[in-house]
Amino acid sequence: MSQSPSFRRTLVTSALPYANGEIHLGHLAGAYLPADIYVRFLRMRGEEVLYICGTDEYGVPITLTAEKQGITPKELVDRNYESIRNSFEGFGMSFDNFSQTSRDIHAETSQAFFLDLYEQGLLKQKTTNQFYSPSQARFLADRYIEGTCPKCSSEGARGDQCESCGSSLDPTELIDPRNVLDNSPLELRETTHWFLPLAAWQPRLEEYLESHPEWKENVKQYCKSWFGDELADRAATRDLGWGVPVPLPDHEGKVFYVWFEAPIGYISATREWAAGQGDPEAWRRWWQDDETRLIHFIGKDNVFFHALMFPAMLMAHRENYIYADNVPANEFLNLEGQKLSTSRNFAVWLPEYLEKFQADPLRYTLARNLPETRDMNFTWEGFLARNNNELGNNFGNLINRVFTFVHKYFEGTVPEWNEEMMEEIDRAALAEVAADLKKYAEHLERFEIKAAMEVCFHAGQVGNRYFDESAPFRSRKTDLVRCGHSLGVILQILRQLALMLAPVVPFGMEKLWSWLGMETDLWNGGWQEGQREIPAGRVLGKPEILFPRLEQEQIQAEIDRLRGMLEDGS
Ligand code: 2FM
Ligand code: ZN
Repeated sequence: MSQSPSFRRTLVTSALPYANGEIHLGHLAGAYLPADIYVRFLRMRGEEVLYICGTDEYGVPITLTAEKQGITPKELVDRNYESIRNSFEGFGMSFDNFSQTSRDIHAETSQAFFLDLYEQGLLKQKTTNQFYSPSQARFLADRYIEGTCPKCSSEGARGDQCESCGSSLDPTELIDPRNVLDNSPLELRETTHWFLPLAAWQPRLEEYLESHPEWKENVKQYCKSWFGDELADRAATRDLGWGVPVPLPDHEGKVFYVWFEAPIGYISATREWAAGQGDPEAWRRWWQDDETRLIHFIGKDNVFFHALMFPAMLMAHRENYIYADNVPANEFLNLEGQKLSTSRNFAVWLPEYLEKFQADPLRYTLARNLPETRDMNFTWEGFLARNNNELGNNFGNLINRVFTFVHKYFEGTVPEWNEEMMEEIDRAALAEVAADLKKYAEHLERFEIKAAMEVCFHAGQVGNRYFDESAPFRSRKTDLVRCGHSLGVILQILRQLALMLAPVVPFGMEKLWSWLGMETDLWNGGWQEGQREIPAGRVLGKPEILFPRLEQEQIQAEIDRLRGMLEDGS
């Protein structure tokens, strides 16, 4: 079990998305939806939780995109920040703070962090040869460099890779290296940088990993494979005009390497949140108190930085920081059986999705299909089937039938139902759903969201079976008291279904919660009220269709667009 009773609160982070483009389904299934489901679950149980995210705004790709668009990097990231924030909001992401790494608070926080390690003498300085562009008076990152491929002689090979033959390259191997932006020649020059010597932290990191046998297999395997060799020095600084400046004398033109500074963004965003609460020091409760549990939700490509590099940085700092208690990393999501490719635009982008469909069906479909232990596949046909057969038939219809019935025959109030009237069929259904609720919580505590969703689906089936077998639509004509009792039982089941569905389809379940006349805030203790018995006489709201059916025509355009992309690309 990952949850130790000594924890009082949980700090959850989702990987900071690059502010270099929009969010697509692969992102959602990796680091965002699972975290939001988990956070909503904890809030529903009334636990103290803080959910932090923001955009990752420095680094070379951002400067390249900005240059291509003829705007400054800051203009680019501000624009993308707005649009990413809006898409996340439309999708129902419930961050407590969504910040940006280009804000002043992050520069201050990461500079102070760096200085703490520097002053302890924990960073190591090294001199290497890098390409320098005399025409622009700056060192160039690999992707700014182009030349002739030493392997296949094709022109226009990039500093890090040749697209023609696929070889990965070191820029110094290129023949006739040039600046991509103005085609001017380059020269090799010495440059000096600071590194984090991770090998020094290796014994502690290995111990740390061993103390977490409950982590996901994939994450443990990655870490073990890195421990196979001595951990290498990791750059903390680089030569670039766009980044957080290194706060040391004689370091003009040097900024932090993004992977040194971006994880500190979680701390900066927490500080910003605390300041917004009018209690600037409150961030310490979340980062420097052993009773706080820190959970990083990420995609598998980020494991190294969250399970090793950032914990090492936090261990190294003189103040007593906590580090991740778990790093539930997901594998990748494929699309229609193919790898997602943003450069080929073979992806489903969130803003476009939200123009046409609601958030809940996508949240539900992805949650049923999360790449928790291996890569998974999203198809539009699968989306249609999940929406119509599961959200619509298994849950939506049941909810609709029950509410319509109560409004039609019981004036919209919960009929009398009680212990004395309980029959075997009632007890069995209630017990089965209560057991499901327990299993559901146990799975979520272990970050097994897909398994929790299966349990939730099963509970829906129990509800449907109970409604069909207890048959209030028949007893209505013969025994109105019995009919009312069956409805009380099924409404009690709906309460618990609402709890299990709420983290995944929050838009629909907030409605159901109010139709059920619940008294507590769903996101603050709803879990407790949902398990208490629904009182007879309570007035229920009027239902509407929660999960409208979708037709083949509505998804056909999406399928055709993706097929077109594949044909163009092949
Ligand atoms: O892979 C990514 O999308 C990175 N921008 C994640 C950064 S996570 C954190 F360290 F900031
Ligand atoms: Zn080549």
